[in-house]
Amino acid sequence: MRFTIAIDGPAAAGKGTISRAVSAHYGFAHLDTGLLYRAVGAKMLEGVAPISAAQNLEPDDLEHPKLRAPEIAQAASKVAVISEVRSALVDFQRAFARRAGGAVLDGRDIGTVICPWAEAKLFVTASAEVRAKRRFVELAAKGLADSLDEVLADVKARDERDINRAESPLKPADDAILIDTSDLNIDEAVTKALTSIEALRAKA
Ligand code: CDP
Ligand code: CDP
Repeated sequence: MRFTIAIDGPAAAGKGTISRAVSAHYGFAHLDTGLLYRAVGAKMLEGVAPISAAQNLEPDDLEHPKLRAPEIAQAASKVAVISEVRSALVDFQRAFARRAGGAVLDGRDIGTVICPWAEAKLFVTASAEVRAKRRFVELAAKGLADSLDEVLADVKARDERDINRAESPLKPADDAILIDTSDLNIDEAVTKALTSIEALRAKA
């Protein structure tokens, strides 16, 4: 049975962690749509025009070893304001969402623009300070961040750009279920997400 789960929210809220756990639980495929924008951002930093990079994106581009680096996150959020970049990535995301075996997509505009028809929509959030701390721990372990302040500034700058852009801004879909993970550990956040999704599956 086709079943689509849309998970949106700001940087480092726990979208990917929840998406991976939910996709493993149901045996659904998972697409981290942020990687598409990060891959276009990485191309821009290499000198390729962003629209052309988005139109010609190849699966290999998603394997770029530095996609998780903060400078690529910033570049991603800059290319993500360009309407033609976003539209070049829509068909791929929608086709993924409609897979027969079920799909989980996480990003910023999945429940609002990419698949407003998704059977389950979650909006995962947490305070900027909590998110920055979590992301700092993660990046520092990989040698990709020097200070918490730097990571907090990165997270805040991206949130600001993502929320205020004209095209597909970050916002919860009207029927999204809100999950604030500020005071939840990973297990608690995953349990909350699965409980919400189970209730929707019972209705589908
Ligand atoms: O995908 P997104 O950027 O929203 O966040 P993530 O990559 O899933 O989570 C960012 C970091 O926070 C990871 O290191 C997670 O392990 C951690 N995390 C956490 O500590 N507690 C949670 N409830 C969720 C995520
Ligand atoms: O993991 P994190 O939440 O830090 O970032 P990400 O999901 O990898 O996304 C990187 C950037 O891509 C975001 O800051 C957004 O500007 C952009 N993005 C977007 O505009 N729409 C999406 N569906 C996914 C990401």
